[in-house]
Amino acid sequence: MTDSLSDQTDSENFTAPWWTRAVVYQVYPRSFADSDGDGVGDLNGIRSQLDYLADLGVDVVWLSPVYPSPQHDNGYDIRDYEDIDPVFGSLSDFDELVAQAHQRGIRVVMDLVVNHTSDEHDWFRESRSSIDNPKRDWYWWRKPREDGSAPNGWTSAFSGPAWTLDETTGEYYLHLFAKQQPDLNWENAEVRQAVYAMMRRWLDRGVDGFRMDVINLIAKRTELIDGPQRGSGDGFEMGPQIHAFLKEMHQEVFAGRDGTYLTVGEMPGVSIDDAALFTDPTQHEVDMVFQFEHVSLDQGEHKFDPIPLDLVALKTSLARWQEGLAETGWNSLYLNNHDQPRLVSRFGNDREYRYESATLWALVLHLHRGTPYIYQGEEIGMTNVRFESIEHYRDIESLNHYREAVDEFDQAPSSVLEAVHAMGRDNARTPMQWDSSEQAGFTTGTPWIGVNPNYVEINAEADRASGTSVFAFYQRLIKLRHENETVALGGFELLEPSHPTLYAFFRTSPSERLLVVANVSDEPFLGELPLDVGSAELLLGNYPVNGDAALRPWEARLYRL
Ligand code: NOJ
Repeated sequence: MTDSLSDQTDSENFTAPWWTRAVVYQVYPRSFADSDGDGVGDLNGIRSQLDYLADLGVDVVWLSPVYPSPQHDNGYDIRDYEDIDPVFGSLSDFDELVAQAHQRGIRVVMDLVVNHTSDEHDWFRESRSSIDNPKRDWYWWRKPREDGSAPNGWTSAFSGPAWTLDETTGEYYLHLFAKQQPDLNWENAEVRQAVYAMMRRWLDRGVDGFRMDVINLIAKRTELIDGPQRGSGDGFEMGPQIHAFLKEMHQEVFAGRDGTYLTVGEMPGVSIDDAALFTDPTQHEVDMVFQFEHVSLDQGEHKFDPIPLDLVALKTSLARWQEGLAETGWNSLYLNNHDQPRLVSRFGNDREYRYESATLWALVLHLHRGTPYIYQGEEIGMTNVRFESIEHYRDIESLNHYREAVDEFDQAPSSVLEAVHAMGRDNARTPMQWDSSEQAGFTTGTPWIGVNPNYVEINAEADRASGTSVFAFYQRLIKLRHENETVALGGFELLEPSHPTLYAFFRTSPSERLLVVANVSDEPFLGELPLDVGSAELLLGNYPVNGDAALRPWEARLYRL
């Protein structure tokens, strides 16, 4: 740890861990900045933008996976945990990136993908080679049932069955994601020790923690794997050993280390009560979790079945999480990441009110209690993309869904494409829009996925030069979290919970009370605010001050009362 990365735990004003007042920025390396013109972003590209990130003011950069990978799932299928994929650079590029980030006071968090490996990982190659290979038990192998079918009816997150028959030994292996992503068997102590040793090596190298991919799936309900066929794809997460595994990981990897780390576990399906347990500091498991409740509210039967967002449902959901983790545990706050459509298109108005709705959601989210995560491009109000044909899409999830829906379920290609436009992960993965030059300044070559054609207007350079800069708004929010203890640690209270368009809440500490009011609508808000703000101090807003209590479309204000 370099000197510039202080542990704020015992600083004068803050007694809570450093990450309670930190803001994390997620980089999706393929799509951030390409330094060598091969069309794929890389580590040296990220390094070249560290001043941009320092200027934004973020404390931590989380890198989506950069390890060697066949890239079936853009790096979430890892072939070798110990190296860097040549498409992103080398280990020495990585060291240089970490060193230069640390010089700017920015920590670097790696993605840890250990629910599964790539099917090209040596561990899996060995495991599949014979039934008595010493690594056989490192993965989930099962015999076919009598009729030759898969051991149970679990389905993969990327369409189709979660079991693939391997010809070499005539047994099935489990993959909760693509068939190129076989699940590791965490019941096996050697697997766990191999993972912990790998994590220790990255910490020794200087990284500052891990974002843990689908970490609540590592513990399976083993009886279901052996039991009768199940009708649905759920039931495999949060097996009985999950807390034991995470405690052991903490003990083996972090305990006794001299450093200030960040651990965040991605946990689909996690409940508030579970999250409080996972993040209870006395339990030594993880610092915070990514939950999915709030980003599932605009989905019907499944992910590609978009339904309109009910604001009441969204704010009451987030408020329940605020309340549930108020005494014990800690929230992570996000509306965007590499798996989610762009926030301003999904929950805002990316046409007439792009600046206003991008900044409204920024203010609302960053004023909750928890650690905010910004996904690349969010800070300049990047939007969803609408490629005109499925050929332009790259994401395995969207492509598999499209094929299945059109070929097997006879759905109209145009309506499936429409759903991919709304919900597909490639919305988040088009290249970062730096400027209005060709390919948005992302690459001098041909990008691996098309640039959103709106880059000519929406790009970092134009945004920062504009009087209504989303970037500048984020800068102010980040600064506020660093400087204001109420923003970092104050209590949360939702106001007007059943109002259909007003998002209002208090944040309260012993020394002050803050009020957020936000009009989540294309129409002005003409009703009464929850209280008279006449004498309150306006700390931040996304419109010019008009002294009027009426909120304009997508207007958000933060008051000190
Ligand atoms: C969650 C990751 O965020 C996603 O991108 C990935 O496809 C799956 N886990 C599988 O690793």
